[in-house]
Amino acid sequence: MQMKRIAVMTSGGDAPGMNACVRAVVRYGIAAGAEVYGIRRGYVGMMANDIVQLDSRAVGGIVRSGGTVLLSARSQEFKTEEGQKKALEVLRGWGIEGLVVIGGDGSLRGAAALHKHGFPVVGVPASIDNDIPCTEMAIGVDTALNTILNAMDKIKDTASAHQRAFIIEVMGRQHGYLALMAGIAGGAEMVVLPGQAVDRSSIANEVRSAFLRGKPHFIIVAAEGASTPETGITQLLSECVAESGHDPRSTVLGHVQRGGSPTCFDRLLGTRFGAAAVDSLMDGTSGVMVALRAGEIVTVPISEVLSSQPILSKDALILAEPLAH
Ligand code: ADP
Ligand code: F6P
Repeated sequence: MQMKRIAVMTSGGDAPGMNACVRAVVRYGIAAGAEVYGIRRGYVGMMANDIVQLDSRAVGGIVRSGGTVLLSARSQEFKTEEGQKKALEVLRGWGIEGLVVIGGDGSLRGAAALHKHGFPVVGVPASIDNDIPCTEMAIGVDTALNTILNAMDKIKDTASAHQRAFIIEVMGRQHGYLALMAGIAGGAEMVVLPGQAVDRSSIANEVRSAFLRGKPHFIIVAAEGASTPETGITQLLSECVAESGHDPRSTVLGHVQRGGSPTCFDRLLGTRFGAAAVDSLMDGTSGVMVALRAGEIVTVPISEVLSSQPILSKDALILAEPLAH
């Protein structure tokens, strides 16, 4: 059955390319004959009735901007049954028949909760961490990687000038995708991933040996999720480098990785995901997430996404080591 009113929202950690997706949902949704509503501030705004109708002009000029024009938020209240019922009452009050949720795995859990209450929802994976299972890429990953590479290139200049060892800490929660891919593409001497044991003397030996082999610098890309409850990974690796006799420097890239104008890849991915999410709602296929697989946009049940684990490509893991020499 053709839906007449659909809504779109962004939630959780913002990711460059979310705006391209919002724009696509609005314009493609209108072209498909629906009115499109924007829910501001994620589930917080949904419960608070912070909803506006969006026309094509309302999303003009946003394809090139980072962040999210719909704003984002995190909400503990929405995790409760009462919070979800409050949100559903608001949606039904507006006559909204279907919803597109753009966000990370937490936001998808929220989408699954609404779907369980019988509300048609389609999820769109968006998180710089690329930790959402069942899709090769999420919105924002490519832009974040390019931001990291840009920073790495600059750090390498100064590291080489002083023959220094540097630790560059990148985001990614418990997943090492950003660290691994940036390490390979940026030419790091070492990548440290979540769950990987840090052996002080072997790292110190590797630093020494690299300089003896004529390397002008030693760059370690460390995933934030490699931190232990006791020590941050940057602190730990700085101690390892110091043990080698070198004077370490470190940069924690932090939230710069989340901002900025989306790359062409993220604009196109966001746009394709947005249109596919509308198609899915209009076809009566809900409770699914749109996903990228072998270049094609497909749908996967959200339940399958949430019961799977994100995995790092074996090929990439194998490549990282020899390339670092
Ligand atoms: P992300 O979507 O980037 O992973 P979060 O994990 O912070 O970000 O999740 C965003 C929001 O999704 C949370 O603040 C919460 O409102 C909602 N959410 C997360 N987990 C659940 C859950 N199990 N049930 C219902 N809502 C959830
Ligand atoms: O999930 C995206 C992400 O940027 C992670 O890489 C990082 O650990 C986290 O969000 C930071 O979240 P916050 O918005 O609370 O600073």
